[in-house]
Amino acid sequence: MDEPEKSLKERLREAMIACRESVFPAYASPAEVFDGLAEACRELGIEEWDVYAERGPVARLEAEVADLLGRPAAYFPSGVMAQQVALRIHADNAGNRRVAMPDLSHLLVYEDDGPRILQDLRIEHLTTGRETPTKAHLDAIPGPLAACLVELPLRDAGCILPTFDELAELAQGCRERGIALHIDGARIWESQQWFGKPLAEIAGLADTVYTSFYKGLGGLAGAALLGDDDFVAQARLWRHRMGGTHFRSTAEAVSALVGLRDRLPHIGECVTWARALAAALPPSVTVQPPVPHTNTFLMYAAGDSDAVNTRLLAALEEHSLAFSRPWKASDEPGRVVTEVTVGQGALELDAEIVAGHIAALVGSRLSRERRSKRLHGHTAGDIFGRTSEVLLKGSLMSVQFEVRIDGMTCSRCVESVTNALGDLDGVHGVEVDLNPGATSSARVTADEPVEPRVLRSTLAKAGFTIARDT
Ligand SMILES: Cc1ncc(COP(=O)(O)O)c(C=O)c1O
Repeated sequence: MDEPEKSLKERLREAMIACRESVFPAYASPAEVFDGLAEACRELGIEEWDVYAERGPVARLEAEVADLLGRPAAYFPSGVMAQQVALRIHADNAGNRRVAMPDLSHLLVYEDDGPRILQDLRIEHLTTGRETPTKAHLDAIPGPLAACLVELPLRDAGCILPTFDELAELAQGCRERGIALHIDGARIWESQQWFGKPLAEIAGLADTVYTSFYKGLGGLAGAALLGDDDFVAQARLWRHRMGGTHFRSTAEAVSALVGLRDRLPHIGECVTWARALAAALPPSVTVQPPVPHTNTFLMYAAGDSDAVNTRLLAALEEHSLAFSRPWKASDEPGRVVTEVTVGQGALELDAEIVAGHIAALVGSRLSRERRSKRLHGHTAGDIFGRTSEVLLKGSLMSVQFEVRIDGMTCSRCVESVTNALGDLDGVHGVEVDLNPGATSSARVTADEPVEPRVLRSTLAKAGFTIARDT
């Protein structure tokens, strides 16, 4: 019988795994991972199993995390369980089920309403959308609250972070109102560079903290919940009641210890590399946040997800370099989005070359020889009069210029001009500023200047003229 044809998603997954090099955290097979864990047990001198999350590597992991984050820690099998436990303890202690958190927080977006259904929590939105939390957000919620949760960084907003001072002020606001501050620090390890403070000082702002062992630290799974002695004792009780005290958590704990040893020291370099990549991207790729706060950020570009992903599959197979994950439709019509998380493997790669692959992927028509062509000492102004700027971004060079256009009156004209200019060879961004009844302008981003006669005839075919003063 014929094999059913694989979906694009499945082919992309296989192509990503088959790549020799990757920007993203390493993919290793289960056998390789277990070989590594066996080796780590010998290197770290781990000879004892944990039993129901006591002794052995779990006890050692709790001690190491407590040391790094400055307070007692309890191991948890998952972040979902850990945070429900934290919030229910705060709610029980306060005799109040009302808690505040960002509308984009993991608890509200990915947990199937568990915090409300299982813990009977009443949830207020601390922030809405891509906002970092401040005391002003808390002040805008009147009445008693048991807890205020901040997600550091807020993943669905592109991993954005407040400043340390904003966080300290929010913590002070919580204290004044008797509200427990809880940090969802799944990626607290990745946030340290942004704050520029020791981890314990960041964690010390909150009453309780959850952190993950399988994101930046690359462990198999698992989490920790931190707070004062009484809180941690209550957390252990709830972990047991909820079936989270597994008979063995040795593999997870050893993998987390390996992450603390091998990955934690390099996370800052991954953040720096993520910033270099974001800076090298062409203007047609929008980065959120524009300067990444952590090693994770979002990229947006014009296009259709199936078309971009089909090109991505071909590029992954051609270069054997996992430079982009699959893209999906964004909430902005006609635009696609993907998340970048920079892993240690990226440190061996040139951010500008990776940016070049991404530019080619989302460019409307970037042929191979154009992609590799360098424009040394050339300004678009040599060829086209009203050049606004030439953007030199390492080996990836883009030119940006403005075309002033007469005859545009409405949004359909904007569409025609955008399509006409966007279809030109090498053009990968067109932004039109409509000025009905007067001269409009189009800001064009291309990998090399476009000759005026080409622009003129392209616009003429679409029914427009280049303004005389251009
Ligand atoms: C910000 C954040 N909080 C909580 C969680 C839940 O963690 P877990 O998968 O360990 O349950 C995640 C998981 O992705 C997360 O990203």
